Amino acid sequence: MSSQITTEEKSLDDSTKAVNRRRALYLLGWGFIGVFLASVVGAAIRFFFPRILYEPPTKYKVGFPFEYSAGVSERFKKQFRVWIVREVDKIYVIQAKCTHLGCTPNWLASEGKFKCPCHGSGFTPDGVNIEGPAPRPLERFKVAIADDGQIMVDESVRFRGERSEWGKSGAFLSV
Ligand code: FES
Repeated sequence: MSSQITTEEKSLDDSTKAVNRRRALYLLGWGFIGVFLASVVGAAIRFFFPRILYEPPTKYKVGFPFEYSAGVSERFKKQFRVWIVREVDKIYVIQAKCTHLGCTPNWLASEGKFKCPCHGSGFTPDGVNIEGPAPRPLERFKVAIADDGQIMVDESVRFRGERSEWGKSGAFLSV
């Protein structure tokens, strides 16, 4: 009798184990399906809402030559990080980026020079380095007259003073 109960108990125990195993497999299956669906939804979200980096334009207009009087204009320093400089017979565009470590210098009109707040480099109004650690002059961007007569700046072409490039075509506009 006792051996009969033991056999029944054993078979009950086996069937419980089998049910548990089936339940575990069932849950594992749904787990895989859940992960799969999550990755599909994630891919769909990335497809419809891609991560786009909006870079500032490299070509832009900065108004008409007659809008600039002699000297350094800070009109587009905030928007494009450039100064428009007008001399007696030409206009050129200087990048407002220190050639030491890339800080943005300030134009000190009363002292007639650009001064970098980071390590004290100074530059003349035409961008030549005169003090501090900056190893070379400020760089200039290409300028041209657009179809509508405005000054077009092209940041993809730059001119470097230490390479005697400031006299090249495109480095300035004759006015
Ligand atoms: S970044 Fe301008 S002086 Fe160092």
